[in-house]
Amino acid sequence: MELQQFEGAATIEKIAALCRRRAFVYPSSDIYGGLGSSFDFGHYGVLLNDNVKNEWRRSLIQEREDVVALDSAIILNPQVWVASGHVNTFSDPLVDCRTCKLRFRADKLEDAQCGRRSSKHPGEFSECDLTEPRQFNLMFETHVGPVAGDASRAYLRPETAQGIFINFKNVISSMRVKPPFGIAQIGKSFRNEITPGNFLFRMREFEQMEMEFFVPPAEAAEWHAYWIEQRLNWHLRLGLRPSHVRIRVHEGEELSHYSTATSDIEYLYPIGWQELEGVANRGDYDLQQHIEASGTKLEWVGQEERYVPHVIEPAISVVRSVLAFLCDAYDEEVVADRPRTVLRLHPRLAPVKAAVLPLIGKDAAMVEKARALYEELRRSMSAEYDDAAAIGKRYRRQDEIGTPWALTIDEQTLADGTVTLRDRDTLEQERIPLEGAARLLSDRLTA
Ligand code: GAP
Repeated sequence: MELQQFEGAATIEKIAALCRRRAFVYPSSDIYGGLGSSFDFGHYGVLLNDNVKNEWRRSLIQEREDVVALDSAIILNPQVWVASGHVNTFSDPLVDCRTCKLRFRADKLEDAQCGRRSSKHPGEFSECDLTEPRQFNLMFETHVGPVAGDASRAYLRPETAQGIFINFKNVISSMRVKPPFGIAQIGKSFRNEITPGNFLFRMREFEQMEMEFFVPPAEAAEWHAYWIEQRLNWHLRLGLRPSHVRIRVHEGEELSHYSTATSDIEYLYPIGWQELEGVANRGDYDLQQHIEASGTKLEWVGQEERYVPHVIEPAISVVRSVLAFLCDAYDEEVVADRPRTVLRLHPRLAPVKAAVLPLIGKDAAMVEKARALYEELRRSMSAEYDDAAAIGKRYRRQDEIGTPWALTIDEQTLADGTVTLRDRDTLEQERIPLEGAARLLSDRLTA
């Protein structure tokens, strides 16, 4: 039977507290009272985000021959967004409450709290006075050039995908590609979400990882199924529990304006099942729109065929992925009568792979050996050296940032050249030769 409740110790509040305490994520503009649903990433957050992006690039670009990279501009010619349909249709229905003056998404009232009676949803309390729903466009506007006016209006992109479609011709003519092939891009997107919240889950500024895979029209359904499976396996390979992941097919009205079929890969966050990644069959909607609006032929011309490709699009944000990995990895336990919080992140995702700890921070011989090992390790992986505080405290700190391995230099190291290798998850400690320790961990990481 399908789970209805998150299995594990994580709550959004605990994850947010750990992220702040351990330099993953800070509330943005904090000293000015913050800014709704904006966050800044601290040292470990940057490393974790980078690892997620690297794993995405590795599976889509490095390990394949049929996907190429792109990094398009954030502010595009505004005609792009007219042609794509975003100016007219990228909107959410919103209602205002005349009593509490709050604004809600009309289609998500069950996820919101009444401003006067938090135990009720908007519209349920006797004092609620909701307006009729109005459409609210989610794109942030800006102006290009010195004069602000209708003629200079531009938008911060709400998805990276359009930058890919408008470069279709450039890529076809400059790279050796032919359908089926993909163009992958990671970059910031911006949406003026009406009801953001739940920490990183819904932000106004977030990085997307999107790939547009161009295929012969007759093969679109087959490639759609293929990419749903590929992307599902990516999440599972990097550690999400199978019981926390499911596929949900979009029905009728729920489909976006460009989509002929979409399946969401959903994750059971502590707030319930939610979209982690969308895998859409966009048909030839976007290329046809840009052909019509720009007058440019965006098609594949082969020896014997000529057609406008159909597009399969896996699209996910870095933050939704990071939040799912954090929720799945977060654990609390009691070890030797002491509570321990640990992030059981996949080693490839962990911000720091190995910590080098001299057992006695003031022992010059231990420090010398530990520093040498640390210097060697950090040539090939992200490593930390720490000689402050008691060893138990140092282990706990590494557990909380998800470091899979700790190498401890002690008396015995000085005598026989071995070190202790501590495993974050099992807490087992094995004695291994100092010589070759860095290679051993590198091999484990790439296994
Ligand atoms: N190009 C298609 C597209 O943008 P989407 O379903 O609107 O489709 C794709 O967004 C993915 O981007 C979602 O599956 C989710 O992972 C992420 N995403 C969307 N809105 C977000 C937000 N406000 N905050 C964080 N991530 C978001």
